[in-house]
Amino acid sequence: MFSKSLKNALLIGAALACGFAAAGAAATADTPASAPSANAGVDPGKAIVDKACQSCHELGMVTDARHTAKEWTSVIDRMRANGAELSDDDAKQVQAYLTKLYGKPG
Ligand code: HEC
Repeated sequence: MFSKSLKNALLIGAALACGFAAAGAAATADTPASAPSANAGVDPGKAIVDKACQSCHELGMVTDARHTAKEWTSVIDRMRANGAELSDDDAKQVQAYLTKLYGKPG
């Protein structure tokens, strides 16, 4: 008795979940390309650091450091010499991001 109604509740729940998922997918498909993405507001420098700065050492190596803007420029240059894969534009974004979050007055 109890288990049967529980089963029904689960079935209804599953059906509702599917309905919502389908509605969600349709809404996403209708979103114009120019709509702000879910990542809006996330610093592009952070995404680059997450991708390019953890292959050789832990992210803590970066986040524990404190450097002036000038020092970050030279650290990033050195990392590129070490083998970090960054375009010139990536390097600028990373430098700005790291100076903002892990800067020190200089
Ligand atoms: C190809 C390997 C490699 C990649 C990729 C890499 N690093 Fe490094 N990193 C090193 C090595 C080796 C050291 C230790 C020697 C040195 O300082 O050059 C180091 C040390 C550091 C240090 C500590 C030294 C200091 O002067 O504070 C920081 C900060 C740092 N890396 C930041 C970064 C950042 C930011 C990125 C991404 C843009 C990055 N690393 C990507 C190899 C790498």
